[in-house]
Amino acid sequence: MALVTTTEMFKKAYNGGYAVGAFNVNNMEIVQGITEAAGELKSPVILQVSKGARAYANHTYLVKLVEAAIIENPEIPIALHLDHGDTFELCKNCIDGGFTSVMIDASSKSFEDNIALTRQVVEYAHTHGVVVEAELGTLEGVEDEVVVEAGQASYTRPEEVEEFVTRTGCDSLAIAIGTSHGAYKFRPEQCTRNEEGILVPPPLRFDVLEEVSRRLPGFPIVLHGSSSVPQEFVKMVNTYGGNMPDAVGIPESQLRHAAELSVCKINIDSDIRLAMTGNIRKYFAEHPDHFDPRQYLKPARQAVKDMVAHKILNVLGSAGKA
Ligand code: G3H
Ligand code: 13P
Ligand code: ZN
Repeated sequence: MALVTTTEMFKKAYNGGYAVGAFNVNNMEIVQGITEAAGELKSPVILQVSKGARAYANHTYLVKLVEAAIIENPEIPIALHLDHGDTFELCKNCIDGGFTSVMIDASSKSFEDNIALTRQVVEYAHTHGVVVEAELGTLEGVEDEVVVEAGQASYTRPEEVEEFVTRTGCDSLAIAIGTSHGAYKFRPEQCTRNEEGILVPPPLRFDVLEEVSRRLPGFPIVLHGSSSVPQEFVKMVNTYGGNMPDAVGIPESQLRHAAELSVCKINIDSDIRLAMTGNIRKYFAEHPDHFDPRQYLKPARQAVKDMVAHKILNVLGSAGKA
């Protein structure tokens, strides 16, 4: 199957009560780990590239890695998406350069400026067969180079979504319902602690999601900042020389519930980073004399694959939907 847009994926996901995973790619091992898991589980998948990923790995290398993954996994639909595009030029570059989907994230601008920039990207994208994700509301944490300080985030206002979608013509909408970017999604004082001393974050605002869905029937909703920061990997990092105190994520049961509703795309990046880092740290601790990157990147790639398989089966519900 060639590279596809997310249109068909989202239609099936919306009607089927599941979501498609959108995983950030930065190198070959990450592309391989994600697509091997999706291929074996016959799941659709979105590979997404941030501005930072393009700066690190180069646009052409990333596109060619994704093309290789398509050849190796011909039975599953794969979309190539720009994550958090912040300018028209960046979106245009990716549209011209082979992406099938772009996000224009003008959520930190005023409502009118967000509409104007999103509309401009939609007009260009649609004439080139590319779909557009937009965002209303802001998440805490780091979105590429934009840092939203704790307390400065704002939930999406449901009363704005119909006008925004109608005036921009966007194809999907990222909303803020309490998810957050990175491995430190919540300050300890925002959380409670369970009996094991692990931080438990405040629940997602399902009331906001439900009201948005009521106003936009059949329209695909996107959740960013949806890593669950599994404590098993935080522990692995910390056991083998790391220092990540109080890293906390979104409980997977809540994301599973969101996937059953109108959420069609769930973004996961930090969990992949954590799984790779934990495994590389462990490998070095256990093999201090090894220096061949193939040796330590092999378990890291396997950890990506296991993480994505876990998400497909336990969070997204997208296995067998290719
Ligand atoms: O939301 C941002 C993604 O996790 C990408 O992160 O900008 O470090 O590539 P990055
Ligand atoms: P996490 O940091 O929770 O993995 O979110 C990733 C994301 O939203 C990418 O756009
Ligand atoms: Zn994001």
